[in-house]
Formats: sequence, structure tokens, C-alpha cells
Amino acid sequence: MNKTEGPSRVPPFAGAGNLVYREPQVPRFVSGSGCWLTDDGGRRYLDAEAANGTVAWGYDAELLREAYSRCESLPALPSFCESDLRLKVLSRLERLVSDALGAPGRVELDLGGAQAMETALRIAAAANGPGTVVVVEGAFHGRSGVTSMLSSSPRYRELLAATGLEVVRLPSPDCRRCPHSPVGGGCTTGCRSAVTRWGSELSGVGGKDFGRKVSAFVFESVQNVGGMVEPDHLWLRSAVDHARRQGAVVIADEIFTGMHRVGPRWGFQRAGVTPDVVVTSKGLTNGGAALSMVWSREPLGAPDRYRPGSHSSTYIGIPSALAVVDTVLDRWEAWTTVDKDVQRLEEAMRERLTAVASRHPSLVQRVDAMGGTARIVLAGPHAGRLRHLFRTAHPRAGALVATTGMADDVVNVHPPLVIGEADLDVFAEIFDTALEELG
Ligand SMILES: Cc1ncc(COP(=O)(O)O)c(C=O)c1O
Repeated sequence: MNKTEGPSRVPPFAGAGNLVYREPQVPRFVSGSGCWLTDDGGRRYLDAEAANGTVAWGYDAELLREAYSRCESLPALPSFCESDLRLKVLSRLERLVSDALGAPGRVELDLGGAQAMETALRIAAAANGPGTVVVVEGAFHGRSGVTSMLSSSPRYRELLAATGLEVVRLPSPDCRRCPHSPVGGGCTTGCRSAVTRWGSELSGVGGKDFGRKVSAFVFESVQNVGGMVEPDHLWLRSAVDHARRQGAVVIADEIFTGMHRVGPRWGFQRAGVTPDVVVTSKGLTNGGAALSMVWSREPLGAPDRYRPGSHSSTYIGIPSALAVVDTVLDRWEAWTTVDKDVQRLEEAMRERLTAVASRHPSLVQRVDAMGGTARIVLAGPHAGRLRHLFRTAHPRAGALVATTGMADDVVNVHPPLVIGEADLDVFAEIFDTALEELG
């Protein structure tokens, strides 16, 4: 365990800019199995963060061994070359979305979430010309130059941002933060009409009647970094219908919510909306490779619209990444009871978190569960402190949970989807101890 305090805790040869050294004590992990990680001092941690919901299948060395055995003879390929493995993975990925939407599409690969969101914006621009992008307050779509413009926190734009991009933000779908609903009573018709005014003469935003178009409307079916917020379904349907009437390409950011993280295969199925472009990554790889995908409804990504050469990068779709996805897709295919099982996980998390929260009413305002995610809403901005206590307070084991700067009163919980009842009991015990310490 690195116990050095202050900025000097960052080793002199290590980059300091990412989140690794945000805490004075940073565990160094040496192994993982199932839902558990072990650090170099032998302390075990129940991982309820799971690389931001990426490790759906837990830590499983067999998965990686199997994947690499599928690409031993082709460890690398020039990025402009085709292979049977690439074609196989593309067609499997296409069906993942096309089957859900009942419409054919095309799949582009990319390296990570932010890059894939940029590719999605390129596809929208190819259809509509470069124009305004409409997003939602509380959104997080990445930290690259362009996606930092879409993400809500201005912190992400301080050092690099594509300031030329015009971005318009619809009001927050989080009733706790929405000025129209100070008591958190849910969306009203006023809230719904607030997301359907753009494109009018008074709105200051272009649309179908203007030369300056809205190129894309981008949404998350459940805001992750924004504090695990699910937009009211009618609110989201109004926003999507309006965007479509105005000619915008509707982009679903399913980077976090995709592949059953919030229940159904795609988060947008919860609200019953039908996007034109779907972006996902985490649930495809179990964290074993850098690969994301952009599905676009035909003909948005067809070669006469989105021409060959519109996007490329050296490592996109290298065989090792494709083999990881191919192996993970086999696992998903074999999990025939996933809908029912994730529903059970939701109930099990709700039950345990509610029981612990009820013992600490002055600290916890409420808990919610949605599929394989849950959120703990605290009575004040103590999420960072509680995250630390989750890791350190219990004498026998720690737990890893997520918190974000955008929601400093919310702890996000998104364990591997394969977590069992016994591990959830341990999680509840650690949660209880952490709250006692916080109190
Ligand atoms: C909803 C959402 N969009 C975009 C991203 C950015 O993905 P990446 O970190 O792979 O760039 C994330 C990452 O957590 C995310 O949760």
C-alpha cells in the first residue's frame, strides 16, 4: 500500500493527471477473482465499481485465455485490412442493436467511449451537415476535446475543448436538481414542454425551418456520472420525438447502460425510445480490450453518405480486441436468463441497501436500484468521504464504489452482474460499517 501523503505520493515517473492518485492511499492490486480484488498487502476488496460497470462478468482469467487463443495466429493486422474475425464480430454487433430496434444498421468500431461518441457525431454531421448538438444537463459523454463539450461539468473543458462546437443543454432530468420540481415530485407537462421548444423562433436554436440545423440530440437512458439519474420516460420520449421532427439524428450513449447494466439489453428500451445511433463499449469487453462500437440505422452509415476514410486509427479493431469481444459475446449469448437474473439482482440490492439505510436515517436520504446499478443518495455532499470509508472502515474487507464530482451526494454502485447473494450480504455489512464511521 502506498501510504505517502500529499502530491509527493505520485511516483516521479508516473503521470499525475488521471484519477489514480486522487486519494492519499492508493491500493495496488495484484489479483482478482469473481467480484473480488486483492491488494499487495493481502487486503480484499469487493468490487462494486467494476471499472465503471465494465466488468459485468467479474474477474475471469479463463475469458482472456480463451480470447487470446482465438487470435494467436493474427496478433496484429494493418488497420485498413479485413479479416474473418472482424466480419464475424461486426455482424454479431450489428444484430445486438438491429434485433432490438427491428431495423438494419451498420457498425463502426472505435477505441473507447469518447472516441466512439465523436464517431457518432461525425455520422450525424454526414447526414445533416455540421450543426448544433443538443444534450442534457448532467450528461457525461467523455473527456476528449469534442465530448468534453457535451459533458456537463465545465471542469472537463478547462484544458482542452472544441469550443467551436455549438452545444445546447436541455434542463436536467434529475428532479432533485430541477428548478421546476423543488420537492422532487416528478416531471410535469411544463418540464416536458421545456425540452421541445428548441427549433422555434424564440429558442435561439436552429432546426428544420432554419439554415442552421441541429445535427444531433444525444442522451443517456440513465445518467451515470450525473448521479445515476433516470429521465422520466415521457420526458425522454417527448425530447426524442421533438428531435426527430426537427431532423436531428438521435444518438443513444449506451456506453454505461448497454448490455443489461440497467436491466434490458439497452437502456433506451426502458423508456421505449428508438435511437438512430447507438454507442456502446463497456459491456462488450469485460474490460479486457479497448473497443467501442457505433451502430447507425441504415442508411446513415452507408458508403455513399459516410464515405470510406471518414474515420480511422491505428489500433481500432486489432485482432486481440476483436477476439475479446467475440468471447464476451459468446458469454452473453449463453446467458439465456439474463433479464430475469438482473431483475433479481436489482431486487436484492434494493432490499439490502434499504435495510442498511433505514438504520442511518440522518445520513442516507434514499436508495434506488435499476437493473445492475444502485445509488445511495446522502443527506449532504459526503460521497467522496463515504467512498473512502467503504474501502477502509471494515476491519476484514473493503468495497470499491464510485462517486463523481457532478453528484457529490451520490454513491454509485455497479458490481459485476454475476455477483451473488453472499457477496451482497458482505457488501451490506461493509456499507453499514462505513456509515457508522461517517456518522
Ligand atoms: C455514459 C458515458 N459516456 C461516455 C463515457 C466515456 O467513455 P471512455 O471513458 O471510454 O472514453 C463514459 C465513461 O465512463 C460513460 O459512462
